[in-house]
Amino acid sequence: MARKFFVGGNWKCNGTTEEVKKIVTKLNEAEVPSEDVVEVVVSPPFVFLTLVKSLLRSDFHVAAQNCWVRKGGAFTGEVSAEMLVNLNIPWVVIGHSERRALLNESNEFVGDKVAYALSQGLKVIACIGETLEQRESGSTMTVVAAQTKAIADKVTNWENVVLAYEPVWAIGTGKVATPAQAQEVHCELRKWLHDNVGAGVAASTRIIYGGSVNGANCKELAAQPDVDGFLVGGASLKPEFIDIIKAAT
Ligand code: G3H
Repeated sequence: MARKFFVGGNWKCNGTTEEVKKIVTKLNEAEVPSEDVVEVVVSPPFVFLTLVKSLLRSDFHVAAQNCWVRKGGAFTGEVSAEMLVNLNIPWVVIGHSERRALLNESNEFVGDKVAYALSQGLKVIACIGETLEQRESGSTMTVVAAQTKAIADKVTNWENVVLAYEPVWAIGTGKVATPAQAQEVHCELRKWLHDNVGAGVAASTRIIYGGSVNGANCKELAAQPDVDGFLVGGASLKPEFIDIIKAAT
């Protein structure tokens, strides 16, 4: 089954109203392959979600960068999946390594969040990835398999899940994984899905790569058979994000 190329732009904790409007204007002016060829989703901070959604071209979509693990209520500072649905925000990023590391989000907590967001009708970009120490000790696959298993334990329908493999050592460092390194892990992840979830899910789930993707390295990464797109951080705030979207063709 053909997997549609997916390009996500994670704006992280960046931007002012003026900067956000400028980025959206650039995106709206860009000539990119059609929605049949590439799915583009940008993820501004919560406070800019509705602004971006109201200004953004209709063939691009928006994602929140997080949501609460269960139904909303007395959880000061959190944003619930129900609220995102209420605002017609279709996507949410869950389990980003920055939240895993800085906010101690465990594999199990991430699995619960993914399942709850899906149950409310959101589509999920679920992030996994190993640290440099874990890679150097040869445990990359053990780590990403455990992260994926915690999601698989809670999720039965993978139709609305995109799995983002983001090696922590490549995030924001300029040290992008080589195409061979990315392909190796993506291929192993697909095998893991095949053996532990099912052949159909393995064949249809998009596994995207994140970590120092830019306009110069995206083409070679995109050419790998198991790389189905990207989750882009820093470069998603720059004009080269358009070149990354074009890597779909
Ligand atoms: O979510 C995106 C990743 O953290 C990658 O960030 O492209 O700035 O390395 P980066």
